[in-house]
Amino acid sequence: MNIANLSLRPTSSCSFHRRRMEQQEVPQAQGRPEDGVGDPYFPGLGNPGYDAQHYTIQAKVDVQDNQLEVKSKMEAVATQELPSFNLDFQGFAISDVKVNGQPAQFQRQGRELIISPQAPLPQGQSFEVDVAYAGRPEPYHSPYAPIPLGWSHRNDSTYVLSEPDGASAWFPVNDHPQDKATYSFEVTVPKPYVAAANGRLIETRPGYDDVKGVETSTYKFEAREPMASYLATVTVGELTSQEEFSRSGVPIRHYFPVDLAREASHDFGRTAEMLDFFSEKFGPYPFETYGGAVIDASVGGAALETQTMPIFERGMVTGDRRMETVLVHELAHQWFGNSVSVKNWKDIWLNEGFATYAQWLWLEKNQGSDALERQVQRVHRNLGWNQDGPPIADPGPHELFSGNVYMRGGVTMHALRKTIGDEAFFSTLRTYTERFRDKNASTEDFIAVASQVSGQDLNPFFDRWVRQTTLPPLPA
Ligand code: TRP
Ligand code: ZN
Repeated sequence: MNIANLSLRPTSSCSFHRRRMEQQEVPQAQGRPEDGVGDPYFPGLGNPGYDAQHYTIQAKVDVQDNQLEVKSKMEAVATQELPSFNLDFQGFAISDVKVNGQPAQFQRQGRELIISPQAPLPQGQSFEVDVAYAGRPEPYHSPYAPIPLGWSHRNDSTYVLSEPDGASAWFPVNDHPQDKATYSFEVTVPKPYVAAANGRLIETRPGYDDVKGVETSTYKFEAREPMASYLATVTVGELTSQEEFSRSGVPIRHYFPVDLAREASHDFGRTAEMLDFFSEKFGPYPFETYGGAVIDASVGGAALETQTMPIFERGMVTGDRRMETVLVHELAHQWFGNSVSVKNWKDIWLNEGFATYAQWLWLEKNQGSDALERQVQRVHRNLGWNQDGPPIADPGPHELFSGNVYMRGGVTMHALRKTIGDEAFFSTLRTYTERFRDKNASTEDFIAVASQVSGQDLNPFFDRWVRQTTLPPLPA
């Protein structure tokens, strides 16, 4: 079961709900509101004044002691004159900050890292920020996420989960989907551990750690398509990789824990077929590579759509393909959420509703349209008793990942399909993924595409389905 299913039940024992009830006061992100990019739910997230282009994260990972030693670099362009600027970053001990190779002053205020270069950066100038830091990563208990975020450690393995606001718990970042960037990762681990990260594996280099006296491997990954910060991930463990190609030619590389490889290999067995299926429905697969990673988390069934390499908690792997709907869900996010990202976090139904509907498309492909209709009707009935929550196009920061966003979002997609017909519906999806590829989209953007493609004003339709609470009946 995944987080989506867990959060469907209002009395769920999932830690997300428990924590929310205990914690009445919500800690706001530190720093002044004007320090963010203007997301209404997260006034402190991200930073104005520059546009991040590329992050390079060089990390030495002590897998057994859970210690990190990192050199991070952000390449950015100043969009205004900058006497100082902020990054989002929490935890660790910072040993050095440089701007364009020159030592820079810095101070920390809550989750803000405030950096003052020796001279103001002129508007339009490209600049580089190097931060050296080390320490034991602390879990970040975000009030907005179903489980602890940041860099986690368990059983001599590590993994990263950051949606929505946890990227700052492992590297200094402009932490908002509006500022996408490309990434390079260089992760050094002692043998026999293996590291995996977003993007394409471009080098594996043997080495030696003089201090510890152990042989090491350094894994270099390049994520060449723009990526939202919450989708950046690194995982380390005793992993084995398995490779194949989709029919459409996309290289697929999965990472499985060595002891679970046989079961996982079977469970992930239809990945290429799924990728080709959705490439047909949604438009070409938007990235250079794909492949899942199985992580050693134990938080009740977590999966996250980290770009090009979604991660799945190992408990989901059973060897009998029970996890297939979750695999489909995280794959669909590569189009909806990753390639086309939310403009603001309130647009989350564009991620979760679409990925949920993708599960039902897979059901339709395998079991026919009657099975799809039954599924949608069942979910619609279940939503019927829950009509007092906020509308899914503005669910509030604490309901981003509530069952309502997923399920009503999925049903909305089906209602749209019924209203405008299959041809206009799938053409809408493909136009949307093409038009907003590597960019951000809002609910209004999606409505505009659907209206344009179908030749109908769909504002009244979407008002009822996503901007109002009362659940409309399913169209015939
Ligand atoms: N996007 C995830 C999904 O589709 C849900 C999710 C949100 C999540 N935040 C998370 C999962 C943090 C793990 C950790 O299923
Ligand atoms: Zn999802």
